[in-house]
Amino acid sequence: MTDDTPVVALGALEAQALEAIASAEDRDALEHVRVDFLGRSEGRISAVLRGLGQLPPEDRPKVGQEANRVKGVVAAALEARSSELAGGSEAPAVDLTLPARRRWKGGLHPITQAVNDIWHIFRDLGFTRARGPEADTEWYNFEALNTPLDHPAADEQDTLYLVDSVLLRSHTSPVQMRTMEKHDPPIRIIAPGWVYRRDTYDATHTPAFMQIEGLVIDEDVTFVDFKATLGEFARRYWGPDTQVRFRPSFFPFTEPSAEVDVKRVITRPDGTRVETDWLEIMGAGMVDPNVIENAGYDAEKYTGWAFGMGPARIAMLKHGVDDLRTFFDNDVRFLAQFAS
Ligand code: DAH
Repeated sequence: MTDDTPVVALGALEAQALEAIASAEDRDALEHVRVDFLGRSEGRISAVLRGLGQLPPEDRPKVGQEANRVKGVVAAALEARSSELAGGSEAPAVDLTLPARRRWKGGLHPITQAVNDIWHIFRDLGFTRARGPEADTEWYNFEALNTPLDHPAADEQDTLYLVDSVLLRSHTSPVQMRTMEKHDPPIRIIAPGWVYRRDTYDATHTPAFMQIEGLVIDEDVTFVDFKATLGEFARRYWGPDTQVRFRPSFFPFTEPSAEVDVKRVITRPDGTRVETDWLEIMGAGMVDPNVIENAGYDAEKYTGWAFGMGPARIAMLKHGVDDLRTFFDNDVRFLAQFAS
């Protein structure tokens, strides 16, 4: 027969200790409780452990085990109450309400995003991407495009010449000729790239800017193909309710020539839908037979259409930006708004 008295006593001690811990109002009171129960010399639980040697040998393991368990429970309760009390009197070590620091994440420039979005739509319609040199000759930039050198556009006032007849291309249209020289029809290309003009730097002009050239050459290509493709592009870019209109215009390399406008439907924050004004998005037209001949193609057999548009203008419109220069100041606070 073993004596259960010490075990029962330990249970009572545990209950007393836990109650004393819970009602300790400050750290001093808590320290008294600790000394009272776990103190080396006077601690009541410690005393039980010390007295193990006086117990009959068969009782020792059981009582020893129980005493250690109670000691652990009381120590843990002391610890928990101690940090609870610390929380009440001092600032918490960690402020969990502080917003996490954001990791810096780069993003595409809004104009690059516009170029990509436009290119992807034409890519889905079966176009490939083409490119040409930014420094090109008068021939590719003007003459091959049916533009005589005495044309105002070829004037040194507008064009940045490098040496003699070499210049910084003033539009992406020279990529038309460079592509036609290398490939036989059918041709369906999109050629985004930088172009350069002697423009003053203001809210709507930058001396270097992006253009996107489009060119289609094949047998039996008509103005109807052109209107249908442009309409499809506009609806995919701006939404299914977008309208497209073609205004007669003049470019030396197209006949007839047109300026293309779009009218969008936008949804206001209050949910009402309104039509925007007409906005010009590109110059375009049916490729002039002289240009087709200059490429060495048979102009009786092949026809085509072409366009040139300004993605920066399109990005300005999309984001409600009214000064082009903000795109080029490289102020990260401005640009980060467009990071996707
Ligand atoms: N190259 C013209 C410009 O920079 C834009 C343009 C108009 C391109 C008509 C074309 C076109 O391909 O057919 O103003």
